[in-house]
Amino acid sequence: MRINPSILAADFVNLERDIASISTADFVHVDVMDNHFVPNLTFGPQMVGRIQDVSPIPLDVHLMIDDPDRWAPGYAELGAFSVTFHAEAAADAVALARRLREIGARAGIALKPGTDVDQYLELLPEFDQVLVMTVEPGFGGQSFLDAVMPKLGLLRAEVKRSGLDVWLQVDGGVDENTIGIAAEAGADTFVAGSAVFKGDPATQIAALRAAVDRHVH
Ligand code: DX5
Ligand code: ZN
Repeated sequence: MRINPSILAADFVNLERDIASISTADFVHVDVMDNHFVPNLTFGPQMVGRIQDVSPIPLDVHLMIDDPDRWAPGYAELGAFSVTFHAEAAADAVALARRLREIGARAGIALKPGTDVDQYLELLPEFDQVLVMTVEPGFGGQSFLDAVMPKLGLLRAEVKRSGLDVWLQVDGGVDENTIGIAAEAGADTFVAGSAVFKGDPATQIAALRAAVDRHVH
């Protein structure tokens, strides 16, 4: 199980402090938004490079941007542990994933709630993680969409069948109540923004881990 707090819910003028506060998590989830693929704007490579410099834990970069074919490799070159781009935005998802792996990052593909998973099942060997969005990408603080859980079931079955080491990530509306639903559906990597930063992050991270344990044991 991996807990990846999203710093979208952190204080952007105290990012170093807030990133230090999540050192008990597995990865820091960095939401890059370009105001084109999604109607919101966050930060670009310069900022992500500085986050990489100060973070005590590795970076899980989630690109909500147009033309990831052009921009995603730059984030891998900065040293991000994983770089996830959206299936809906990529011109050649397989070529891009191969490029990311070549640079040394784990390659991730993200699916919006309305994007079908079927055509990606046979491409799983090309990826290290699949991010199943449980809200429409763009903003924190939205409600978890149970309706996408069948996609996780299909992915989990294919990961089991193939024996591949592909992590299955959920992102959006993940909190102490919904994380168990995602775990039961097959997720093993959980992104949480507001649920982590609404209180003391270390306490919230521990509570999320405990909630997963209650469901998978
Ligand atoms: C939404 C982002 C998420 C966001 C999740 O587009 O991809 O990572 O930070 O925030 P919460 O956990 O508040 O739904
Ligand atoms: Zn995200």
